Amino acid sequence: MKKLVIATASFVAIAAMTLAGCSARTDTGTGTEAAAGFAADASIGVALPDKTSENWVLAGQLFTDGLTAAGFKPDVQYAPASNTVAEQQNQITSMVTNGAKVIIIGAKDGSQLSSQVEAAHAAGATVIAYDRLILNTQAVDYYLAFDNFKVGQLQGQALLDGLKAKFPDKKSYNIELFSGSPDDNNAGVFFKGAMDVLQPKIDDGTLVVVSGQTAVAQTATQGWLAANAQSRMDTLLAANYQSTDLDGVLSPNDTLARAIIESVRSAGKPIPVVTGQDSEVESVKSIMAGEQYMTIYKDTRSLVSAAVDMVKELQAGKAVSEINDTTSYDNGVKVVPSYLLAPVVVTKDNAVQAYANNPTLEAAAKG
Ligand code: BGC
Repeated sequence: MKKLVIATASFVAIAAMTLAGCSARTDTGTGTEAAAGFAADASIGVALPDKTSENWVLAGQLFTDGLTAAGFKPDVQYAPASNTVAEQQNQITSMVTNGAKVIIIGAKDGSQLSSQVEAAHAAGATVIAYDRLILNTQAVDYYLAFDNFKVGQLQGQALLDGLKAKFPDKKSYNIELFSGSPDDNNAGVFFKGAMDVLQPKIDDGTLVVVSGQTAVAQTATQGWLAANAQSRMDTLLAANYQSTDLDGVLSPNDTLARAIIESVRSAGKPIPVVTGQDSEVESVKSIMAGEQYMTIYKDTRSLVSAAVDMVKELQAGKAVSEINDTTSYDNGVKVVPSYLLAPVVVTKDNAVQAYANNPTLEAAAKG
């Protein structure tokens, strides 16, 4: 009798979920299993961090447009510039309360969202980590990003290449290292990728970090804020480079690269080889002017459209097709099935060609 009651109850529950258009998502872990689908005009939550780079501003617009065009009701929210963690937690909670079927999250702090994404799961929503991984929870279904470790490796290799090209007669180069905000999981991954290339060259004496600051915590830039990178560079220059040349700087992104260049310029020193990431318009111009050495192109349009495609498949109850990596991104409790796009190195030499599919950046490269 008891068995029958349970069976009946679960039949009713499944029938109710189907009628309500709820997703009966399963957690078998391969990341590609089909779900039951949901209403074609469902609400889709998009929680983005604060606007620390142009790509975040663009992503918000593209999500609104892409999800609307696909027939969904987008609920796109940014964490505000202050109290961002708590605000983003509240935003995700209200997306769940409002019945979002998929919640796409660019985490402000990927280690502080477990309760919110677990509540989203409990309500039957699928959780997609966008660009930044969400840590220490089973309740993250997919990760969509440009391969962050690869970004770091490309930056490290470009720094070496740029130093050799700019100083053909030097046998060793003086450099400093910067990393991004410690609350963004990507910051550590970019740095690890870069050090994968740079550490052997530090060990063999090709590269000299004159300040001695090589630990990620020493190199961090709180909040990804330009002002913080600029003041650290001011301090490094005053303490270590009064009578020593600074040849290169590993900068994790364009905003910080421009701040570092500004600091060096204010100190009246020649501009070193400085790396970057994001292909921000001002940095593309700086590269073409021969100041910043390189950037990375991560086409936000591709990442957002991959996310929207994934939402369409989930809506239709199809298996998610865009997973190309099931080994690399361990969030502490699970390896999150990922769709990783390839980042592209851009220097003055290939900028026009690299941005050929992007009118805004192509125009910046052509001047
Ligand atoms: C993104 C970078 C960006 C940084 C600061 C990171 O998580 O991957 O593209 O430069 O955040 O906004």
